[in-house]
Amino acid sequence: MLQHNLQINMTQDEQKQAAAQAAIQYVPKGSLVGVGTGSTANYFIDALATIKHQIEGAVASSQATAERLKKHGIEVVELNNADNLPVYVDGADEVTRHLHMIKGGGGALTREKIVAAVARKFICIADQSKLVDVLGNFPLPVEVIPMARSYVAREIALLGGQPALRVGFTTDNGNLILDVHNLNIANPVELETTLNQIAGVVTNGLFARRGADLLLLGTQQGVETIK
Ligand code: 5RP
Repeated sequence: MLQHNLQINMTQDEQKQAAAQAAIQYVPKGSLVGVGTGSTANYFIDALATIKHQIEGAVASSQATAERLKKHGIEVVELNNADNLPVYVDGADEVTRHLHMIKGGGGALTREKIVAAVARKFICIADQSKLVDVLGNFPLPVEVIPMARSYVAREIALLGGQPALRVGFTTDNGNLILDVHNLNIANPVELETTLNQIAGVVTNGLFARRGADLLLLGTQQGVETIK
């Protein structure tokens, strides 16, 4: 289904903004909202600010998101204090029509996966460039406990990937990121499980076991809804 905007040939940023704006209709009145991380999620936060008096507050998937929410005067609620989270809205680095994703380009994958696990509905918002047939062109982020960095890198190499340490980056959880190139991601559910079983891996950026429930894809012609 394509919701036509008046404007055509939207730029990538306009596509992100349109997808983020379209997600507002899925936010139930009086509820908490889970909020992702990144430039598309930032557009969602800006849109959420316009209805902030209609929601209870937000659960943030990163420190950066928490700060932006607070700047807009949106109350940030700890996940442990959220007994009901109807919806989580976040971007993706790659997404398929099966609603499997690669996430973590911004390094927030672990908290994103936790908040997504709690939420009843995951709404992915993305521009057209993120839609792919097969995941894996974007290097897969893997969050790693620092002392396990070399071991995990060796194990990933045995799986056929080429891990590169994200230099100068520490996650909100005090860990490192390995960005893994050239993985064959024919079976994202299986690979997500396999990678998470390596000792020292906190989590990986495949969101396939719990994919999105809905994709709002900003295109040049408007926002396409994919379920
Ligand atoms: C952050 C993420 C983001 O959702 C992903 O990187 C997409 O970012 P952007 O909306 O800036 O393209 O997973 O960890």
